[in-house]
Amino acid sequence: MTEVQKIQSPIAAEMAEFEQRFRASMKSKTPLLDRITHYIVKRKGKQMRPMFVFLSAKLCGPIGDTTFTAASLIELLHTATLVHDDVVDDANLRRNFFSINALWKNKIAVLVGDYLLSRGLLMSIERNEFELLRIVSNAVREMSEGELLQMEKTRKLNITEAVYFDIIRQKTASLISACCESGAFSAKADEEMRARMRAFGEAVGMAFQIKDDLFDYTAGGEIGKPTGIDIREKKMTLPLIYTLEHADKSDRRWIVNTVKHHSNDKKRVKQVIDHVIDGGGISYATEKMEAYREEAIKILHSFEQSDARDALERLVNYTINRKK
Ligand code: IPE
Ligand code: IPE
Ligand code: MG
Ligand code: MG
Repeated sequence: MTEVQKIQSPIAAEMAEFEQRFRASMKSKTPLLDRITHYIVKRKGKQMRPMFVFLSAKLCGPIGDTTFTAASLIELLHTATLVHDDVVDDANLRRNFFSINALWKNKIAVLVGDYLLSRGLLMSIERNEFELLRIVSNAVREMSEGELLQMEKTRKLNITEAVYFDIIRQKTASLISACCESGAFSAKADEEMRARMRAFGEAVGMAFQIKDDLFDYTAGGEIGKPTGIDIREKKMTLPLIYTLEHADKSDRRWIVNTVKHHSNDKKRVKQVIDHVIDGGGISYATEKMEAYREEAIKILHSFEQSDARDALERLVNYTINRKK
């Protein structure tokens, strides 16, 4: 059994049914949309968010219809975000293939993202899932705020560690937190349990984004999306922030100058990456990721042992050990 199969074993039937529902939830009679959504479902991602939803539900009570709606709503929204994110980041690769903006141009990618979002919202409204909408819409608001905060800080190139953690809490951890909370809610967990699952999801989400940011520094490109583009897009993440904080004045000036004015110069960017590695930025970020992992596990262990809990623990570890 692969690690992912082990994680999914308590929810294998649910994940299979989810696939069907998710595919159906995107269908459109507009030919262009139909072609694009077809393309999207063919190149599915890791589906970690639906796994968080189902396992969180199973941890707290029985999986029900609301759990399925939550999983589809969140995966639709996540997909919409990625389609938009690749426009924002000017990235041409996603899930090992061309991004929507690379194949159909930015204008179409923006509209497709909106379409996916609207399908998620409509599906929830049709089923009268207003509490679910409240949980998830809050996360969407936070994600937009986080992305905008990142852009604002990016322009000024003055991100501190505290601001970085705020950004990733908003742009990534908020949605994973919403996965775990809505899973718990769908299984009729009480408010106290819901709060614990929300906190659990937030801690995992922080570790998840630090891992994603570490990927950007790994050469090779086995992960199915471009690497080294954060610097090109002047996006300062934890490894670089740490390195800058600890570099001497002249190194610091050289790095900032490179990111500001020469971020398209491959040779200089490579030198920045070497600085980050030698300056301990990678190990520091790895330590922080590990700390969030431990925080998540601690919260998880406040629940009684069960198959769902064991699988969630595996999912947490997969979050930081994954290869893509
Ligand atoms: C990518 O998320 C976006 C981030 C929050 C870093 P995933 O790595 O879960 O993307 P897919 O769905 O598996 O492609
Ligand atoms: C995460 O940011 C995307 C969102 C949470 C919207 P990134 O730009 O780092 O995501 P990837 O690396 O492109 O997947
Ligand atoms: Mg991106
Ligand atoms: Mg990234």
